Amino acid sequence: MTNAQQSNYQKAISRLHQIQLGLSQSETTPQHQAASRRPNRMKLLYPTSLKLNTKSLEGFGVDLVAYDVKKTLPEDAIDAECLVTWCNSSDNLKDAAGRMKKLRWIQSLAAGPNDVLNAGFSASEITICTGSGLHDHTVAEHALGLLLNSARRFFEMRDYQLQGKWPGHLGGPQPDRPAGKFTTLRDARVLIWGFGNIGKTLAPWLTALGAQVRGVARHAGVRDGVEVYGEDKLPELLPETDALVMILPGSEATKHVLNAERLKQLPNHAWIVNVGRGTSVDDEALLSALEKEEIGGAALDVFTTEPLPENSPYWKQKNVVVSPHAAGGRERKFWSQRTYVAFQPDKA
Ligand SMILES: NC(=O)c1ccc[n+]([C@@H]2O[C@H](COP(=O)([O-])OP(=O)(O)OC[C@H]3O[C@@H](n4cnc5c(N)ncnc54)[C@H](OP(=O)(O)O)[C@@H]3O)[C@@H](O)[C@H]2O)c1
Repeated sequence: MTNAQQSNYQKAISRLHQIQLGLSQSETTPQHQAASRRPNRMKLLYPTSLKLNTKSLEGFGVDLVAYDVKKTLPEDAIDAECLVTWCNSSDNLKDAAGRMKKLRWIQSLAAGPNDVLNAGFSASEITICTGSGLHDHTVAEHALGLLLNSARRFFEMRDYQLQGKWPGHLGGPQPDRPAGKFTTLRDARVLIWGFGNIGKTLAPWLTALGAQVRGVARHAGVRDGVEVYGEDKLPELLPETDALVMILPGSEATKHVLNAERLKQLPNHAWIVNVGRGTSVDDEALLSALEKEEIGGAALDVFTTEPLPENSPYWKQKNVVVSPHAAGGRERKFWSQRTYVAFQPDKA
């Protein structure tokens, strides 16, 4: 666990204790907590959209109640203080936001909890925790796969295969690392924009394959041995990029940050891989750059509208790989681990 994650867990734990004790933040001194502890238990709603080993949670001061993430909550669930979300329908979340008046903590298991943030929960009264850190391996692996697909052109080979044609131009003797083309990760200059938990997982794998990795984030500095720059350095970094990997969260601040001006700063052969959120890309500008061959191509796992509408021009673009938001979404045994950490101090 990183220091930042540890700190987030500690904040969540502290908040949970306040909720359990029925105290406001200003009332919570250690002495106060010891004197005021009440025997009432919290109610925590957990989703049936994943398998949970509830046995691992026995002994904690919480009543666990299963709920269906695709239906409105039953009456006996709406007084819960804690809600864990995973693949909930938007109707379910909107209903919960309107009816759960005692709710104080939401643990989303998604790294980007945009569904929860858009549902109308009161951010000032409810602590919302993301599942960042839970999906690092699977999303990093998918990003690596999309990069290799782009460089090695597996997508084009498959197109030819389905037509019963031999893609001779992709086989046989080939130049090694030709200038002005993205054909390999070896010596490729890869820029990871959104250098968080997933980026930190991906970076050493790319380095192991010979890529030169740099990052962009809100805060500059060296992270895990990788030089990470602020966005103000993008005009210098983009022209020196063979592959741009976007792993940004979806928010107002990241909306359309990959715009026409920045696309023009990339070399014509550069590929874009997006496994963050579709809203960080200005689709009109990207489609225009693809059509005019101002960039090499784009491998996209996330889109402004999902599922990608049938009439989206992305489907028919030659150098576009459409991946159906498949990078993350793989349930592991993480839910019980996360909850175990959150409730750990209360078990003593
Ligand atoms: N495709 C999928 O299936 C899938 C699965 C999981 C996650 N995701 C997406 O991936 C995103 C990142 O996940 P993560 O776990 O790596 O999150 P994270 O650890 O929170 O990292 C987010 C990174 O983005 C940077 N950032 C945030 N706002 C920015 C801004 N306005 N401008 C520039 N950089 C900004 C942060 O910079 P600082 O570090 O300087 O704060 C941080 O480096 C999630 O929010 C989610 O949307 C997609």
